Amino acid sequence: MNTAAAVVTGGARGIGAAIVRSLVGAGVPTVIADLLDDDGERLADALGDLAVYRHLDVTDEAGWQSVLADAEDAFGRVGYLVNNAGILAFGPVDAVETEEFRRVMDVNLFGTWLGIKTAVPYLREVPGAAIVNISSTAGLTGTAGVCAYSTSKWAVRGLTKSAAVDLGPSDIRVMSVHPGPIKTPMVAGIDESLSAGYPIARFGEPEEVAATVRHALLEATYSTGVEFIVDGGATTGIVAPPPMK
Ligand SMILES: NC(=O)c1ccc[n+]([C@@H]2O[C@H](COP(=O)([O-])OP(=O)(O)OC[C@H]3O[C@@H](n4cnc5c(N)ncnc54)[C@H](O)[C@@H]3O)[C@@H](O)[C@H]2O)c1
Repeated sequence: MNTAAAVVTGGARGIGAAIVRSLVGAGVPTVIADLLDDDGERLADALGDLAVYRHLDVTDEAGWQSVLADAEDAFGRVGYLVNNAGILAFGPVDAVETEEFRRVMDVNLFGTWLGIKTAVPYLREVPGAAIVNISSTAGLTGTAGVCAYSTSKWAVRGLTKSAAVDLGPSDIRVMSVHPGPIKTPMVAGIDESLSAGYPIARFGEPEEVAATVRHALLEATYSTGVEFIVDGGATTGIVAPPPMK
């Protein structure tokens, strides 16, 4: 039987594009779903028959239904979903604009839930189906200056656990992946010296997140409802300074 397909949101660039390349490299037919049509089409063309691009705003329910129907038409069965699309907004709790808070929750949380809801009838038909939701280390700790973003990523983590218990009996695993700072357009302009005290003192590469997502989807068959952390040890602790003389 053919390998079931994956849908990767925000798959046109950054971490999402690395996830798409990794899944296609593992032989998984993949639908790249994004707002960035030129980037998405270019990536699909470069990857050949195992990748197609579809325009999707993750907050649009009708758009989700079209993407899932198209994925089934293109590849037969849909067994994997990666809710990766996300936006970052800056602002502490007392300064973030009301509309901006709503927008971040709409894309990062509502869009993730809508994806799960729409995909589940397809995933139920595929033994060993799995969902990965991309959260963040900002969904594991309080994070200064990004209140809406951090709140949305904690909510994605909670949604993941609720979905895991609801969908376990349907043989669908649901996991969250929590990157630290990763070199993508989202963090362009953030100084890499931020990572100076991390056990692995650098920003991560998109491919390092993609490898964990692929593992969670394709190999981690006794894991569900869990957090996979890809942060250079940032949430483990800060390394000790050199001893004083
Ligand atoms: N880069 C990091 O340091 C970092 C750290 C932790 C978590 N993350 C998370 O990883 C995910 C990917 O981030 P990235 O760094 O690759 O960012 P990015 O900005 O490079 O890519 C995000 C992608 O999502 C797409 N997108 C945004 N809104 C969308 C919508 N409404 N519908 C469909 N697609 C939409 C964008 O067009 C873009 O292609 C996000 O969820 C982000 O919060 C990133």
